Amino acid sequence: MTHWLRSTLLAAVLLAPAAHAADDSLYRAWGGREGIRAVMDDLVPRLKADARIGHFFKDVSTQHLARQLTDQLCQLAGGPCVYDGPDMKTAHQELGVARRDFHAMVEVLQQSMAARGIAFADQNRMLALLAPMHRDVITAGSGTAQR
Ligand code: HEM
Repeated sequence: MTHWLRSTLLAAVLLAPAAHAADDSLYRAWGGREGIRAVMDDLVPRLKADARIGHFFKDVSTQHLARQLTDQLCQLAGGPCVYDGPDMKTAHQELGVARRDFHAMVEVLQQSMAARGIAFADQNRMLALLAPMHRDVITAGSGTAQR
């Protein structure tokens, strides 16, 4: 065996487990796609009913949004899903979402996660993945929006 081939095989053996172990621990902690879907099925009606931000969701299909959010969070959490909807900037650009609206949504999501029994640490891991999206979602504000 050439030295080159041996090194290549060795590298493949050493790297394979690392490449394989894409971290799906958050996905599993949420109960897989079904667990995520259960939270989203709880979330969307709560969003529609929320006195602060319900108006944004008035004409939005509950089924569609729950499915899109499920795919998105599943993918974010390391699960075997592919979100194929519009990027966050495109999806929200016409809505005029302000910082307080974003925070209201996070509060409602916290209610849904708690209602579906997601452990607090796993709630926070998901929120940490969602938080950076505020840059694309929030388009309304004082003009000196904090980033
Ligand atoms: C991290 C936070 C957020 C995430 C991950 C998120 C994700 C999504 C996704 C995946 C869609 C579906 C896009 C499509 O398939 O067309 C969507 C649509 C929508 N989002 Fe968000 N969103 C976030 C924050 C917000 C906030 C704060 C509001 C308003 C308070 C909002 C209001 C809406 C509305 C009204 C739609 C429907 C738009 C339409 O059908 O034209 N989103 N969002």
